[in-house]
Formats: sequence, C-alpha cells, structure tokens
Amino acid sequence: MMNEAVDNSLFKDTESATATEWHGTSSRDARWSIYQGSSAFVLAKLPEASVHCVITSPPYYWLRDYGVDGQIGLEETVEAYVKSICGVMDGVKHVLRPDGLLFLNLGDTYYSGKGKSHGLDRKSNKRRFGLRAVDKSGGLGIGLQRKSIIGIPWRVAIEMSARGWVLRSPIIWHRENCLPESVADRPSRSYEHLFMFAHSRKYFFNKQPLIDQKVEEDMWTIAARPKAGNGLDTAPYPDELVKRCLQIGCPEGGAVLDPFVGSGTTTRVAVSMGRPAIGIDLNREFCIYSANQLRSL
Ligand SMILES: C[S@@+](CC[C@H](N)C(=O)[O-])C[C@H]1O[C@@H](n2cnc3c(N)ncnc32)[C@H](O)[C@@H]1O
Repeated sequence: MMNEAVDNSLFKDTESATATEWHGTSSRDARWSIYQGSSAFVLAKLPEASVHCVITSPPYYWLRDYGVDGQIGLEETVEAYVKSICGVMDGVKHVLRPDGLLFLNLGDTYYSGKGKSHGLDRKSNKRRFGLRAVDKSGGLGIGLQRKSIIGIPWRVAIEMSARGWVLRSPIIWHRENCLPESVADRPSRSYEHLFMFAHSRKYFFNKQPLIDQKVEEDMWTIAARPKAGNGLDTAPYPDELVKRCLQIGCPEGGAVLDPFVGSGTTTRVAVSMGRPAIGIDLNREFCIYSANQLRSL
C-alpha cells in the first residue's frame, strides 16, 4: 500500500481565484480546488497518481442539455458516447493512485427511433433538443429495435474493463421514492448503476461501514434528490451516496476528485468529511456555485 499523504502539488496553498480556477481551505483544514474546463483537458494537467478516490456522475446519453459547448452526452452514436466517457476515465486513471477507487454512476437511455423531435427538454427548460440521436430512425448504428433500452452503463463498463480498469462491484443504487415514469407497457425504472472500479488489483477498501450500517452491501437504497439549490439543473446525486462511497473507498484525509462536479455534491460532502477535494466542470455557473459552497465550509 502506498503512503496515504496527499500530494501537495495537487492544491494551491492559499485562498485564490482566477477566471477559471477557484481554490481554498475549509475551517477543518481540507483544501479544495474547482476548475472550469473540459474534464479531459484539466485532468491531463493534474499530477499523476495523486488522488485517492473519484466519485462522479457524467452526463447521461441524450437525457439533458447542459447548454455548454464541448459537453458530453449529445453524441450522434452510442459508440462515440462510450468513447467520450472512457476517454475521460483514461485521464482519471492517470490521476488516480494505483491503490485508488473510482465510483462511476451511470443511467440508461431508451432508443425511441420514432423519427420525431422530442421537443422541449422537460428536465431542463434552458434549451430545446432538435431531433435527438435516440429519436432518429435507423437503429443508432448498433441494430437496436425501437423501444429498446440501450444498455449504456454496461457498454461503458465493458469498454473500461478492456482499457485496464478492474470492475470490482456493479452496485445498484435503488432510487427510493423516485417519481414513476409515465409508461404503461414496461415497469417504471427505479435504479441506476454505481460501478466500483479499482485502478489495480490491490486497493484501499473498508467494508466495516457497510457492516455497521446493516445495509445491503451492493444494493443501496437511497432517496433520489430533486435539484440542487438555486434551481441549478445538474441532476445532482444525494449526499448519502457520496458519503457511503467515501466511508468505504477513501482513507481519512485522502484526496477526492469529481471530473463532472455539477453543483458540487462530491466536493462539498468530501470537504465536510475532512477530505481535500477537486472538482471540474465545463459550466461556469456550476463551478461558481460549487466554489461558493466550499467557501462556507
Ligand atoms: C450529471 S451532472 C453532474 C451532477 C453532480 N453529480 C451533482 O451532484 O450536481 C454532469 C455534469 O457534467 C458537466 N459536463 C458535461 N460535459 C463535460 C465535459 N466535457 N467536461 C466537464 N464537465 C462536463 C455538465 O456541465 C454537468 O454539470
């Protein structure tokens, strides 16, 4: 096992901000940094093998428009989407320590193929989708029949395994009390995947919190969260999900990273649990919101 000290070159020492970076230290002495930019670009600048644990939820395939150029999630093909996510995860692997863990939350999308525009993005009133790739006829290039679920999480997980990640546990996040979908010809979905990937075969893991909390170990029932504060449309995951990942997958004081930080759930929960944290997002408004939250800790 490697030394658990945090790599000092990961953080700036003082409270500071530029046009695209925000840095600070919490009252409990946990340092934090937020970077605005594409995650692949920012990750390439972070020091190798410096982060203990990564917890993240990338944009799902064609579910939301974050209104920023260069965003992931609106690729024309499933293959291109899988390649985008796995490309970022290659960058994560470079920054993650050999004994580190990655918790990757991914949801799925249906292939409608109905040939008509989806119209308003009901989850985000900011922009209209045109004709989404998942509504075009022609099977998305992977031979799907209309109405099929695409199987996005496993397509990504299989490609990541091929790129050297060790998939140790496909945890089910059962989204307790989530709103039922308005569909009559299939069961409404109530879970998402949370893949626990190890960088290498030997890694930090503490099973005790799962035992102490008397919870199902690989099926986590945690209530979904509607929206972050300020009406930000980031599809935030619940604090409890991040907390549990940290309890089992990050040593005390270990450095935490979220390359798709959105409203800053990962960084806020990590810093409030005394772990230094780094967040990256393309969206400036989300970065400022995340940094402001961290400043108050
Ligand atoms: C599902 S949201 C993350 C939500 C976050 N877990 C939270 O609790 O608020 C995905 C985020 O990825 C960001 N994003 C999309 N493409 C990106 C890219 N290429 N690089 C960095 N961030 C990106 C979006 O702006 C959005 O904030």
